[in-house]
Amino acid sequence: MLASPEASRFVLVNNADLFKPTYPKSKEKMIGPSALFFHQGEYHNHLRKIVQSSLSPEAIKKLIPGLEAIAISTLESWDNGKVVNTFQGMKKFSFEVGILAIFGHLEKRQKEELKENYSIVDKGYNSFPTNIPGTAYHKAIMARKRLSQILQEIICERKEKKLLENDLLGHLLNFKNDKGLSLNNDQVADNIIGILFAAQDTTASALTWILKYLHDDQKLLEAVKAEQKAICLSNERGNRSLTWTQTRNMPLTYKVILESLRMASIVSFTFREAVVDVEYNGYLIPKGWKVMPLFRNIHHNPEFFSEPQNFDPYRFEVVPKPNTYLPFGTGAHSCPGNELAKLEMLILIHHLVNKLRWEVVGSQDTVQYSPFPVPQNGLPARFWKEPDKQELYN
Ligand code: HEM
Repeated sequence: MLASPEASRFVLVNNADLFKPTYPKSKEKMIGPSALFFHQGEYHNHLRKIVQSSLSPEAIKKLIPGLEAIAISTLESWDNGKVVNTFQGMKKFSFEVGILAIFGHLEKRQKEELKENYSIVDKGYNSFPTNIPGTAYHKAIMARKRLSQILQEIICERKEKKLLENDLLGHLLNFKNDKGLSLNNDQVADNIIGILFAAQDTTASALTWILKYLHDDQKLLEAVKAEQKAICLSNERGNRSLTWTQTRNMPLTYKVILESLRMASIVSFTFREAVVDVEYNGYLIPKGWKVMPLFRNIHHNPEFFSEPQNFDPYRFEVVPKPNTYLPFGTGAHSCPGNELAKLEMLILIHHLVNKLRWEVVGSQDTVQYSPFPVPQNGLPARFWKEPDKQELYN
C-alpha cells in the first residue's frame, strides 16, 4: 500500500510499464475484456488517444446545450415535494450524459433498452460471481449479452449509414492503427460499456457529496448561489444557454467541486500488479504482488492539506503540491473523462442552485460504500422551486 505522493508517482507515472492494471476476472467478463482500462501497451495507447480526443475540451464544448437539457429535465423531475434518493437521481443524470457523449443522438427505443439492461448489469456487478440462474450475477451476465446485441445493432446502423459522426462512437468506428487495422464490433462494444461504467457512479457519487456539503454549509451555498445567479442574469432574459467561457468562469463553484473530490475521494485507491520484481526505496515489490496507491490517504494527510477533515474550498486558492491531489488518478491510466465530469457537475450545480432549494431528510452522517462512498441511503432529500426564482425557470 502506497500512501506517499512520490511512491504513487513511481508506480503510476514513471514505471507504469512495470505495473499492470488488475481486476477480478468476473469484473472483466462483465464489462468486456477489450475495455481500455484492462490493458497496457500499444492497444491501450491507441484506445486512450481516441477516448481522450473525444472527451477533450474542444469536443465537449459542443455538448453544453445537451448537458443543460439533461440537467434541467433531471431537476424538473425532482421538484414535486417527494423524497428523492439523490444518488439514484444523479446516476440517471450521469448515465444520460454518458449516452450523449458516446452516441450523440440515440433512438428512444435503443436508449431505453440500453438503460434497462445496463441497470441489471450494474446491480449484479458487485455481487458474488456464480452462474446459478436467479442470482444477481447471473441476471447481470444475461443482461450484458443483451447489451452486446443492442450495441451490435447500433454499430451496424452507423456503419450502413456511413455516418461520420464526431461523437465517441464515431471516433471508435473510424479508428485505424498504423497497419490500417480498425477495431472489431466487440472491441467497440466493450469500450462503450467500459466508458458508461467509468462515468456513471463516479460522477453521481461526487455530485451527491457536493449537495451534502453545500447543504451543510448554508453560508457557502449562498456564496455559490450568488456566483451562479450573476451568470444567469448576465444572460439575456436569464434563459439563454450557458457558454463555454461562462463554465470556465465559476471560480467558487469550481473550488467546491475540487474540495468535494478531495474530501470524498470517490476513487479512494487503485490497484496495479508488478509484472517483474521491482525495487523501490530499498523495498522489494515481488513480481505478481498487488500494489495499491491510496489516494484518500494522500488527500487526508495534514502535511499536504491542513485540517483535512474540514470542508474548505478556499484551500484551492493555492495550488496543491505536485502529486498530492489525485481525484482523477495520474499517469498512463489517469481519467480521460475528467473534463467532462467537471463540466457536467458545473452545469448541474448552476441549474440546481438557481432553480431549487433542497432539504436533506433524516440524519446523514454515515457513509455507505456502493462501492464508491456515498452518504447513507444515497442522501434522501426533498427539492422545491424557489418561489421568487420562478423567472429563472426555462
Ligand atoms: C467525478 C467523476 C470521476 C472520477 C472521480 C474519476 C476517477 C478516475 C480515476 C481515479 C481513474 C484512474 C484509475 C486508475 O488509475 O486505476 C479513472 C480512469 C478512467 N475514467 Fe474516470 N472518473 C470520473 C469520471 C469519468 C467520466 C465522466 C468518464 C467518461 C466519460 C471516465 C472515464 C474513465 C476511463 C475510460 C478511465 C480508464 C482510463 C485508462 O485506463 O486509461 N471517468 N477515472
